[in-house]
Amino acid sequence: MNANFPKSDFPVLFSDRFKLVEIKDEHRNDIFELFGDDSVTQFYNITTLQRVEDADAIIDHFRTRFADKKGIRWGIAEPTNEAKILGTIGFNSIIPEHKAQLGYDLKSAQWKRGIITEVIDCVLNYAFNNLNINRVEAEVMPGNYASERVLEKNGFLKEGLFRDWMFWNNRHYDMYIYSVLKSDRKK
Ligand SMILES: CC(C)(COP(=O)(O)OP(=O)(O)OC[C@H]1O[C@@H](n2cnc3c(N)ncnc32)[C@H](O)[C@@H]1OP(=O)(O)O)[C@@H](O)C(=O)NCCC(=O)NCCS
Repeated sequence: MNANFPKSDFPVLFSDRFKLVEIKDEHRNDIFELFGDDSVTQFYNITTLQRVEDADAIIDHFRTRFADKKGIRWGIAEPTNEAKILGTIGFNSIIPEHKAQLGYDLKSAQWKRGIITEVIDCVLNYAFNNLNINRVEAEVMPGNYASERVLEKNGFLKEGLFRDWMFWNNRHYDMYIYSVLKSDRKK
């Protein structure tokens, strides 16, 4: 039982420039633009979307994870236009009182504007203060320098390379594991 998980309402968060919102059907075209781009999916265990309808399964997945209290994925929007999202961020899995796994992605036109660095801070505060999570971890495929830089810049420790950690499309992949603890953030 996850006593700290929101009861029903999706938690809307704010950073200086962005509003983190629930991902809904109205974001279908944005989700397609995001996950239909090979440069976004190249380090993921998903196939680049080919048709806009394929976005529906992703939106459903995020909705179900939240309803089951197993994950939270926010859409990153400008506060004046939450019908359009620029990317997503959130926790793919949440183990109550213990740990959560972070993931994020942005439309390629939005890269290098400091967006993920800004919203990571916001979702980490939420995990540590509202969900009472102790450890947030992230998995990064070797070669994904942008993601490594984001994590290092935001106080994550690179714990090591886990060999053959991911299995996808009949292949094993090594993954770097990064983490940040609640106590790290207080230092
Ligand atoms: C990883 C990703 C989310 C980065 O988001 P972003 O908003 O562009 O990152 P930021 O602007 O906050 O940048 C943080 C740091 O990373 C650096 N960085 C960002 N993209 C980079 C790139 N392509 N190559 C090298 N460094 C990069 C920035 O320069 C910055 O460091 P600096 O302040 O020293 O200059 C984005 O590249 C992306 O969506 N990639 C595809 C999806 C993905 O791989 N997600 C992560 C899976 S683990």
